[in-house]
Amino acid sequence: MKIFIDSGDTDEIKEAQSMGLVDGVTTNPSLAAKSGKRFKDLIMEITEIVDGPISAEVVAITAPEIISEGEDIASWHRNVVVKVPLIAEGLKAVKVLTSKGIKTNVTLCFSASQALLAAKAGATYVSPFVGRLDDIAVEGMDLIRDIRLIYDNYGIETQILTASARSPVHFVEAARIGSDVITAPWSVLKMLVHHPLTDIGLKKFLADAEKIKR
Ligand code: G3P
Repeated sequence: MKIFIDSGDTDEIKEAQSMGLVDGVTTNPSLAAKSGKRFKDLIMEITEIVDGPISAEVVAITAPEIISEGEDIASWHRNVVVKVPLIAEGLKAVKVLTSKGIKTNVTLCFSASQALLAAKAGATYVSPFVGRLDDIAVEGMDLIRDIRLIYDNYGIETQILTASARSPVHFVEAARIGSDVITAPWSVLKMLVHHPLTDIGLKKFLADAEKIKR
């Protein structure tokens, strides 16, 4: 499973990158706004840190405008993936962008039927938001399971990008199901490293190491 960091904070992207954790980056308008940087500047800065897919979201909501904004965004750097909302106009745009060889990430996916349509349109990635489903008392990971089953039934190549991941449980479950990618904030990625038995074990080893000459 590939790991993307969901962030617009270049310091945390650098930190995660230095741990060898990052295969790619996802951003959204909310994360980009938090950075306080001009959108293009932020994306270009991220391309300097990570050599992998970097999702940058359009703000247009009609197909012609999404296509034109998407073409512009895609021209910024070879690693940029155009993130498009899962609406009818978005699907029309994805079909055109895909035919032009532009990679897309269809975002705000909340149902298996939407995921199937994104694949039909030729999306490179589909982003089902598991945490936001959990928020409304719907089991988010069930959606990942359904999409995996449906995509495998038909040999669909669109990659499942588990998004809105909020915990290490989402991470492990996504790997069990066979999600192609997970994107998670730095706060969650950091949590994956820690185990109390590792800390206790290391403390004991270091204490015992004091007793011998090296
Ligand atoms: O990748 C989508 C993600 O940014 C949404 O996460 O936590 O705002 O639901 P969240």
